[in-house]
Amino acid sequence: MLAPGGGAFMDPETRSTIFNRAVSIWLRCPLPVLLQRVLGRTHRPLLNAGDPAEILQQLSEERSPLYALADIIIDGSEAPIQVTTSSVISALKAYTPPRQVKVTLADREYEVLIGPDLLSQAGGRMLRVMPQPRCVVITDEIVASLYLKTLEDSLFEVGVAHSNVIIPAGEASKNFSAWHHIVETLLEQRIDRSTTIVALGGGVVGDLAGFAAAATLRGLPFIQIPTTLLAQVDSSVGGKTGINSQWGKNLVGAFHQPRLVIADTGVLHSLPVNERRAGYAEIVKAGLIADAAFYEWCETHAQSMLANDSPNLPEAIEKAVRFKATVVGDDEHETKPNNGRALLNFGHTFAHALEAETGYGQGLLHGEAVAIGMILATHLSASLGLCPAQDTVRLIKHLQSVNLPTQIAKLSTNRLLEHMKQDKKMRGGKLTFVLTRGIGQAFTSNDVAEEAVANTLLAYGAI
Ligand SMILES: NC(=O)c1ccc[n+]([C@@H]2O[C@H](COP(=O)([O-])OP(=O)(O)OC[C@H]3O[C@@H](n4cnc5c(N)ncnc54)[C@H](O)[C@@H]3O)[C@@H](O)[C@H]2O)c1
Ligand SMILES: [Zn+2]
Repeated sequence: MLAPGGGAFMDPETRSTIFNRAVSIWLRCPLPVLLQRVLGRTHRPLLNAGDPAEILQQLSEERSPLYALADIIIDGSEAPIQVTTSSVISALKAYTPPRQVKVTLADREYEVLIGPDLLSQAGGRMLRVMPQPRCVVITDEIVASLYLKTLEDSLFEVGVAHSNVIIPAGEASKNFSAWHHIVETLLEQRIDRSTTIVALGGGVVGDLAGFAAAATLRGLPFIQIPTTLLAQVDSSVGGKTGINSQWGKNLVGAFHQPRLVIADTGVLHSLPVNERRAGYAEIVKAGLIADAAFYEWCETHAQSMLANDSPNLPEAIEKAVRFKATVVGDDEHETKPNNGRALLNFGHTFAHALEAETGYGQGLLHGEAVAIGMILATHLSASLGLCPAQDTVRLIKHLQSVNLPTQIAKLSTNRLLEHMKQDKKMRGGKLTFVLTRGIGQAFTSNDVAEEAVANTLLAYGAI
């Protein structure tokens, strides 16, 4: 236990050492109480230079925003020291440091924090990476009704000025008109280049808010607070942002990395079970691409991961994020011709075509489409003699065990192929696919014959 002087925490280097090595606690006292305590004492050099009340007021204005960055804030009062001490002890006992994953890019890095109850303390964490204490929270109607107040209270507590923009929930909002509405509202609110944009919601809010942050005033600081499992394990990390066009999914967008990602696992309690499953599909994806042992671990723990309060879920989220962070750190802008970031699209060429054909947000959830897409990609690989046919059977069995869809319902093969040709993953007129040599051994290929793809679609219910 170390009680540095009030000035020590004002020094950026000292503060950063404290953040990295210790749990920091701010004993926050109202000014009259502080004044009462210091009056009559002469050993406080800063207070001897004038009227102590005025000096304290000024010091408090200067220092409170930085003290508010502490991990724990405890309201001190006139209560006897024993009361404050026991509040400190119980706060420390209740404090679990979040799991932390660093995303390291060529010229900067940021943290993904994972754990319960992070939303109510988000303000202090956010303030550490914000250029000024002002932000605009973008969220959707459902998430706003559940969690906006908790976030706003925590921003208020640390003195961050905030406003919000609320959009209708669901994939259908990931379009030009919602994006236009967000950008115009930001400008109407006279934001400046140091105003931070905060995405509070699932992948739809994250992609939309991120793209608004990327384009408005040519780039605003951005923080992700993902509230769906899918967004926590995938979309909030890596900096891809964008919207859909009538021509296909995610066709308009930008790379814009967040400065911080706060994944509060507690908010997943309110997530409908089909959304939970959809997020789970992206967790399985990490194992299928590069980690057979993790895939096997998923097979063993899937049922408990999909139940609330499973201790396995935060671990799975951390593993999936760690995997994504490594891939993104290695190929931030997906420029590697082979086996770079594009690997994360395993199952996605099929999935995007299925989503486009069934209507965004109307037929399949993104994660559900990914589940089918991963089966199709594995089947396609097996049909090309690249992996054992048994892998497809094993994957189908697993995804069925968690009630994810595994078949295409009578969609047109030709139309699905047309959607695939429209996908960003077309290079030089050829279809680019992520194929696999077996579970955990995915690789990119830009040389897949259309006929093989058509046969795979037909084998899974397309007509
Ligand atoms: N940028 C990327 O790298 C990337 C990666 C994967 C997916 N995505 C995109 O993410 C999108 C899908 O994201 P999603 O699955 O999170 O969908 P979503 O954002 O539509 O959220 C799903 C639903 O859950 C609701 N919701 C969110 N949090 C909740 C909570 N805690 N409790 C109750 N309800 C809650 C939302 O209001 C919405 O109705 C797709 O558009 C996909 O393209 C992007
Ligand atoms: Zn995805």
